[in-house]
Amino acid sequence: MTVVEIENLTKIYKNTRVLDEITCSFSAGEVSGLEGPNGSGKTMLIRAIAGLIRPTSGFVKVEGHIIGRDRPFPDSIGVLIEGPAFLERKTAYQNLRLLSMVRRVASKEQIYSWLEAVELDPNSRMPYRKFSLGMKQRLGIAAAMFEEPRLLLLDEPTNALDASGVKILQTLIHKAAEKGACVIIASHDAAFLRSVADHVWVMSAGRAVRCVERGDNQ
Ligand SMILES: Nc1ncnc2c1ncn2[C@@H]1O[C@H](COP(=O)(O)OP(=O)(O)OP(=O)(O)O)[C@@H](O)[C@H]1O
Ligand SMILES: [Mg+2]
Repeated sequence: MTVVEIENLTKIYKNTRVLDEITCSFSAGEVSGLEGPNGSGKTMLIRAIAGLIRPTSGFVKVEGHIIGRDRPFPDSIGVLIEGPAFLERKTAYQNLRLLSMVRRVASKEQIYSWLEAVELDPNSRMPYRKFSLGMKQRLGIAAAMFEEPRLLLLDEPTNALDASGVKILQTLIHKAAEKGACVIIASHDAAFLRSVADHVWVMSAGRAVRCVERGDNQ
């Protein structure tokens, strides 16, 4: 089942086409990658799907609704984008608990188990501001995933993760897809993407140039 449908999506800032006539779609239960060099438009595409920027032309449809027209944001979404914002003085548990109060789908027990899943101590009293970079990234991953959204967008999720963190991330991504989520991951780490994604869109200068299926050696 198609979750995200993108048609002729273009975003122009001043005179630069940061997204250039992108047409592609993403399905439930699949892990899709966005790969490409710095500045190729991966983060912009993630932002457009999340409803954080509006297209200059073309559209993003999520679960049948045009984002920015029918819905401001997708109905069921989890996002990790560079530099997630958490409250500096609150612990990992307190931060997730506060987030959970918006939608009220995750219980205290579920928050505990998600923190354990990313190997953060749910009982730790350490405030977020004292976290290492990798610990911050782990909390960002838990925050994007803990409500088990139908659409999961992860921008550079391996940033700052050690080898064990990357393994955990791979497992969590596979589990989310198995449960039916549509997972889209942007990363310049081609090896990582090819290890988790069913297919990878290769981006270059704002264009989605081609889609490589897993197993292809292009
Ligand atoms: N607020 C903005 N205004 C104008 N141009 C922007 C803005 N933000 C990003 N850009 C431009 O959009 C283009 C795509 O940037 P984007 O962040 O999507 O690249 P990326 O593929 O995610 O790169 P990276 O691998 O470095 O994360 C770049 O040319 C960038 O300079
Ligand atoms: Mg980026």
